[in-house]
Amino acid sequence: MSTENQEASTVAVTIENGVAWVALNRPEKRNCMNPALNRQMMRVLDELEYSEDVAVLVLTGEGTSWSAGMDLKEYFRENEAKGLGATRRAQSEAYGWWRRLRWYHKPTVAMINGWCFGGAYGPLFGCDLAFAAEEATFGLSEINWGILPGGGASKVVADLLPLRKAMYHAMMGENIDGKTAAEWGLVNEAVPLSELKARVQAVCDVLKGKNPVALKATKDAIRRVKEMTYDNAEDYLVRAQEAANSFDNDGRKEGIKQFIDDKTYKPGLGAYDKSQQK
Ligand code: ACO
Repeated sequence: MSTENQEASTVAVTIENGVAWVALNRPEKRNCMNPALNRQMMRVLDELEYSEDVAVLVLTGEGTSWSAGMDLKEYFRENEAKGLGATRRAQSEAYGWWRRLRWYHKPTVAMINGWCFGGAYGPLFGCDLAFAAEEATFGLSEINWGILPGGGASKVVADLLPLRKAMYHAMMGENIDGKTAAEWGLVNEAVPLSELKARVQAVCDVLKGKNPVALKATKDAIRRVKEMTYDNAEDYLVRAQEAANSFDNDGRKEGIKQFIDDKTYKPGLGAYDKSQQK
């Protein structure tokens, strides 16, 4: 069997009504990320990104875990034994798919069903929205085994949490549950595990109803402007909207027409009917 075929089982994909449910699939290892999984995830993201069958991508985990972070044996110890080149290669494979997620063409939703540790904060942050089970467990456990939160994890908590909470979370090695993760702003919302899939499905249904060009422009804008001055952001947003218009001027005009002329919907209360767009 080729290496690619062996690696394929590390990620499970189901596409249903425009939603790609992508699951880290090493439940017996709590979905910790080994090089095989990292390579396969990049292949899967590549394949789904421009597929017409997919409007929204959900990232979840098989079994009791979302992801127990990096594989301490296969990602860290075995690569370190091979030398710096192997370590750097493994880093670029992991960081590569998380970066790909941050700028993904489709909207992305993290569905955190269980354990979420360390390196898993990379893909957590890569997803545009995040919904957790109340019963899920989040932790920066790096300090518990003697490293700093690398692979972007320090940046993720510094960006998403107030400084005191980020410091406490990173330095104390104490876990928080899904409810606390939502209160802190690490995820959008926490619901009981039994309701998690239905809640994420409802979010996906709303996203599917929006103009896809506007969604991609919006998600990129929110990430980009965070690091800009107000004036730079104003300028970027003018140009980003003009670029979006060149891909989809008709959608925007249809949205205005259905409100102003047809009076069939109100933009303050929902999305225009895309199916009417010529
Ligand atoms: N790396 C390598 N193997 C792992 C990892 C990991 N991150 N997480 C779990 N496993 C393996 C275990 O070694 C075990 O393997 P085995 O069956 O061959 O003995 C198997 O997965 C099941 O793990 P258990 O510990 O038995 O599962 P349990 O449900 O009792 O505990 C928990 C789950 C709490 C997630 C525990 O496995 C754990 O603490 N994992 C490590 C979490 C962590 O700190 N990750 C690193 C973060 S730092 C970073 O990512 C840079």
